[in-house]
Order: sequence, then structure tokens, then C-alpha cells
Amino acid sequence: MQFNKKIFVGVLGMVALSVNLLAQTNTVPAEAIEKVAPFIFTPESVKSGDQIYQANCKSCHGDIGKANYAKLVPIPKDPASPEYQKNTDGEMFYILSNGKGLMPNFVNTLSEEQRWDVISYIRSFNKDYIQPAIRVVGEAVKTETAKMTLAFDLAKKQLFATVTDSISGVIKPLANVSIKLFVKRTFGNLPVSKSETNSSGIAYFNIPNDIPGDTIGKLSFLAKTEGNSKELSSTIDEKLGVITKPKRLLDERTWWNINKMAPVWLILLYLSGVGGVGVTVIYILLQLRKIKKINHNK
Ligand code: HEC
Repeated sequence: MQFNKKIFVGVLGMVALSVNLLAQTNTVPAEAIEKVAPFIFTPESVKSGDQIYQANCKSCHGDIGKANYAKLVPIPKDPASPEYQKNTDGEMFYILSNGKGLMPNFVNTLSEEQRWDVISYIRSFNKDYIQPAIRVVGEAVKTETAKMTLAFDLAKKQLFATVTDSISGVIKPLANVSIKLFVKRTFGNLPVSKSETNSSGIAYFNIPNDIPGDTIGKLSFLAKTEGNSKELSSTIDEKLGVITKPKRLLDERTWWNINKMAPVWLILLYLSGVGGVGVTVIYILLQLRKIKKINHNK
């Protein structure tokens, strides 16, 4: 009886432990996993993240890529390791904001922007990382706290701009911002599209697919906010134009071109001229020989 009781308690303990472990492995809610950064990672965000990492994370996670993290259980992991990198940006953000096991939360220590900056720094050690749906990063111009960035959505194959404002460290998307899109030309900017940001601060642009680009179809886009006292602008180069081969004056058969590209009639005229002179010379020589022969015979 006594013996059975011990087994019962043991089994109960094991069940409790495994339930506990299961619960622990599944702590990040689905919507938090999907969360993406409200801005595009840039060399500046990586640089800022580097400083934040050295001050707040290095003591436990060590130098990234060196696996010299603190000996804790469970281990804090090297942020460059594949197991760590397989977390989504949203999972990292959630763990940073809520803590995990022995790791403290940083919700009061680091602003939302700083938390994303440190994630952008951690991602800079993963050469296969592509920021969700974002490939090319335009140059953003920051005016006071608001910021616009023009980028290309790989999945939707669309050019889009994000507009955010940072209010005491918390980044908020700006909705209903009118944005005008231009293509940069030698003499001024050609307006091509207009759009407005949605509630996520994103404005998608529909671009006509017949704009002549350069020899690889590249176009230089410029976005500008409208009707706002402080104007924001951002630029990006994308291959969204029609491939255009510039017509050069030397591509056709012309008078002024090299021999190979001279007009056919000119070549014929020249050859007949040279040939005519040659034939005349030969004719004269033959006549001279005839005269000589006649003289000899006398
Ligand atoms: C006091 C030590 C400590 C500090 C400081 C710390 N961490 Fe951690 N971190 C840990 C430990 C321990 C774990 C593993 C937790 C677990 O699995 O239960 C962890 C896990 C993580 C994870 C999840 C990795 C995974 O795959 O499970 C992320 C992301 C993370 N830390 C990021 C950071 C960042 C960014 C900072 C700095 C802002 C930081 N941590 C600071 C100890 C720390």
C-alpha cells in the first residue's frame, strides 16, 4: 500500500513536470510571433542596437558569434546560433518585452524602438535574414520625430512607404498621410503615383508598367509627403521600368562613323573609285608594253 502510494505520487509529479515543460515551451502568443518591426532595419538601427546589446545583453549572451555566453540553465544561447536565429522578429520582441526563465524583461529599461534596434543588430549576424516582406531599403529622411521610408515589398511586388512617428520612444504608425511618388529624371521629377497610408502607416503605390528606365530597367523613385508642414522624403532605386537601350549616333551606318559602319553605297562608290584607278593603271602598263614590243620588232 505504502509502495503504491509512492509510485502514484511519482507519476503525479512527472505529469505535473511535463505539463509545466509543455506550457513553458509555448509561451509566445501567435499574434506576437507574427509581429514585425514598425520600421526598416538600417545601418543606424544596427549601430544603435550594438550599443544597447553591449550594455544590456552581453553579460549573459556573450559576444555574438563567439558562444561565450554565461553558464546558466537553460543556456542563454549565442544570438548568432541557428537555434536562436530561428525565432521570428516577433518572438524576440516578445521575449525582450516579457523576459524568459532567468532572463529579465526589458519593458521598462528599453524603449520599443531600442528593442527593435537590438533585434536589427542580432539579425545583422545572419546573412540569410530577410526582413519580412522587405528587401530593398530606401534612404529615409528624418524630420524631428516623424520618419518615412520607401521600400519594396517582395511578396506583393509593390513599392510602398511607411510613415511612423516616435512619441517618447514609442513608435506609432501615421495613418492618412498623403504621399506623392515621382520618378527622378534629368530635368526634374515626373509624378507617377499617389497614395495614402493605411492604419499601419503603410502606403502602397501602383506604378504604370510602361515607364522607360535605364539599360537594366532601373528607375529612381522619390516619395514626398503632401499637405504637411514638415515635408518628409525618401528615395529608392528599383528595376520597375522598361529596359531602354539609348540610341547612339554611332549605332547606324552613317557618313561620320568608322569604316565598318559606313553606308553601303559609300563603300561601293569608294571601291569602284579605287578599282577604276587600278584598272586604268593596268591598262596604261599594258599599252606601254605594246609600244615597247612594236619598237623591239623594228
Ligand atoms: C541575466 C541574463 C540575461 C540577460 C541580461 C539577457 N538575457 Fe536573453 N536569455 C537569457 C537566458 C537564460 C535565456 C534562455 C531562457 C530560457 O530558454 O528559458 C535567454 C533567452 C533569450 C532569447 C530567446 C532565445 C531562444 O531561442 O530561446 C532572446 C531572443 C534573448 N534572450 C534576447 C536577449 C537580449 C536582446 C538581451 C539584451 C537586451 C538579453 N537577452 C539579455 C539570459 C539573459
